[in-house]
Amino acid sequence: MPNSITVKSKIKSFKKIITVSGDKSISIRWVLFSSLANGVSTAKNLLKSEDVLAALKAVKVLGIKSKFRNNICKIYGKGINGYKFKKNLVINAENSGTLGRLILGLLINSPVKIKLVGDKSLSKRDFKRVSDPLSKFGAKFKLNNFKNLPLSILGSKTLKPIKYFEKKGSAQCKTAVIFGAMRTDGSTLIKARKSRNHTELLCKHLNLPIIIKTKKSYDEIKINKVKNIKPINYNIPSDISSSAFFIVLTALSENSQMIIKNVNVNSSRIGVVSILKKMGVQIHLNNRKIYKGEKVADIKITSANTLKGIICPKKFISKAIDEFLIIFLVAAKAKGTSYFKGLDELNQKESPRLRWAAKILDMMGIKNITTNNSIKIFGNPDIKINKKIVIKNYLKDHRVFMTSIVAALSFGGQWEIHDKDSINTSFPNFLKIINKLKNND
Ligand code: S3P
Repeated sequence: MPNSITVKSKIKSFKKIITVSGDKSISIRWVLFSSLANGVSTAKNLLKSEDVLAALKAVKVLGIKSKFRNNICKIYGKGINGYKFKKNLVINAENSGTLGRLILGLLINSPVKIKLVGDKSLSKRDFKRVSDPLSKFGAKFKLNNFKNLPLSILGSKTLKPIKYFEKKGSAQCKTAVIFGAMRTDGSTLIKARKSRNHTELLCKHLNLPIIIKTKKSYDEIKINKVKNIKPINYNIPSDISSSAFFIVLTALSENSQMIIKNVNVNSSRIGVVSILKKMGVQIHLNNRKIYKGEKVADIKITSANTLKGIICPKKFISKAIDEFLIIFLVAAKAKGTSYFKGLDELNQKESPRLRWAAKILDMMGIKNITTNNSIKIFGNPDIKINKKIVIKNYLKDHRVFMTSIVAALSFGGQWEIHDKDSINTSFPNFLKIINKLKNND
């Protein structure tokens, strides 16, 4: 089977109701929390992607069994101290920054050295951001090049609570420290710039000893040692980050409409909706409900008649951190200039995404001025691509692949997009849904 895909024509108008797969952040957190629970936890609609399967394998290495059949996953937790720390353990986080960083928080009491490895992309990413705060609890780390994988962690018997200021707006760092605090006597205090709060919502749902004070641009979190976690039965809502590709495809297609069912619309995740609405896309959240503290809704999108540029407010950055590549396609077609700054974290993702954004826009003939942390995009409402574009060697970043497919279907041209297996990390069904839209079935 060829691992590249060719797209030669724009998509025709469509009206569709779709469901995308389960939320990745919640899926990985459910696996990790359930691995500490007292008894059997069950999830429906857990995302069946490589990142989540890697999480199930990681807890298996620590002695926690699971079963994943049809749409139901069960994890057989043995309690908060149920991990078996055998000698020479190796955990492979594969492509997942979330898994690699979060699980370290749960290993700070390991009596044996554990090695953490990852794939080529993850091995280029920064792990000092979590080893620094976790060392303060008392765990010992050795990192490749002082900041990368492979790393080894050796826990401590005498963990001490810490005070930690999370300045990047990284939910992964915040969660790693919350997990560390769950294993440590005394109160750990975290001041964290705003970022997604699925961990805190799960802690609250489970009645864990956590207190959160919400301030304008950061949260104060106090968390004490956790003695017991009850099993968690969870029906995982769909992923807004996966939905974003279809939101933009609909916005950029003519005479089209889409409803995406049962999507997690946690306020810390819907920056993409806020930004696109400001740019003129018609998006409505219907059938809103609250599920285990998480907001869930159906998202309705109608193709946009006129799109306008945006000076993106800073408050949306962390809320849309995984969606900028796809948002930039809307800016490419908008009337006027768009400007996004404060994007330092974008080059720290599965690939240097801001650099990839500039490359893709260049290939599309869209003028942009890009620095290490900002991009100015000069939109062209009449954009039409008539040439061949090849997308390859992008460290298999799933979001580069999916963004390229949406660009090809929206703007035309002849696109050859390599490494289609990259979608397996977050959204294995992506191309199936695209094909259904293309064939109108
Ligand atoms: C995630 C947090 C974000 C995000 C990633 C998932 C999470 O990363 O980009 O895809 O589930 O906690 P950072 O914590 O590095 O911002």
